[in-house]
Amino acid sequence: MQLRGSAKALGDALAVLLVLVLPGCTPPLALDPQTPQGRAVAGLIWWFTGLCTVIWILVLLGLAFAIWRPRLVPADPLALDQRAERRSGRVVAVLIGLTGVIVIGLTVLSFAAQRQLFEPADGALTIDIVGHQWWWEVVYNSPDSSQTLTTANEIHVPVGRPVTLDLTSNDVIHSFWVPSLMGKADLIPGRHNDLTFTAEKPGIYNGSCAEFCGMQHAHMGIRVIAETPSDFEAWRRQQLRSAAPPASESAKRGEALFESSACAFCHNVSGTPASGQVGPDLTHLASRSSLAAGTLPFGRGQLAAWIADPQGIKPGAQMPDVRLAPDQLNAMLDYLMGLK
Ligand code: CUA
Repeated sequence: MQLRGSAKALGDALAVLLVLVLPGCTPPLALDPQTPQGRAVAGLIWWFTGLCTVIWILVLLGLAFAIWRPRLVPADPLALDQRAERRSGRVVAVLIGLTGVIVIGLTVLSFAAQRQLFEPADGALTIDIVGHQWWWEVVYNSPDSSQTLTTANEIHVPVGRPVTLDLTSNDVIHSFWVPSLMGKADLIPGRHNDLTFTAEKPGIYNGSCAEFCGMQHAHMGIRVIAETPSDFEAWRRQQLRSAAPPASESAKRGEALFESSACAFCHNVSGTPASGQVGPDLTHLASRSSLAAGTLPFGRGQLAAWIADPQGIKPGAQMPDVRLAPDQLNAMLDYLMGLK
């Protein structure tokens, strides 16, 4: 316990030092863990960093000693000094032994952290995550299909309950990483990996894809929103509803346009004929806080920009340029902004 306390104090001191040395920077999120799984990873990082730092300093001290120690030049430089030979033999043997102990020790630490990270949790909420170029499909599956809901890029979870993410990809390899909550795991086509974490306090935790997956890899943000169980349940019920019907004449025109254009081939809006499965589900688009996987904050202006020029904002994205006249774009925005 004492040792843990001092390790934590040392960790905090180093984090503070980093902040002081790098003005304007906050400690990396992986070193500011908010879950038991996050703490297991952070502990491992500190152990590796601490031990490697000590070894590095000792090696440099040894080197400095070897360079600067006073020595007598023997009369015959080629003559073997048996005592010195035996001494250096012993030093090398001790160092080889120590290296073995350190490597085994770090392996055991690493194994223990892995166990903690991938331990199956009882009563976990399972969420399926499918990686796409370049967004995240998020499915809360239920044996009862009327209780299954699909959303994108933002993952709501209740605090205090373990959450298991079932990760796969439908195109290339992506990697799911929200540093303050958990370790990192790849999303591989045709394979299912999982990650478990238990959020301890409500909050918004940001992450991103951590494996280069093409041109817009850097625009593949993840947001985990941890909320109290009652807030989570309210959110879930709201998301299970069909899309809100358009509230104005203009929004009605927008809906008709959406359903008669290319939009409906790619996007699903529950309760309407739009049932495309290529792009993100838009049933409750306006309840999200960002657009295009965290590329833009959510807002009418940003949505207008995204629809008008997706290739300017996220070149290479699957979203095509849909040519709309200004009044059509306005109607479309009235419709989409109503999808709360
Ligand atoms: Cu997906 Cu990088």
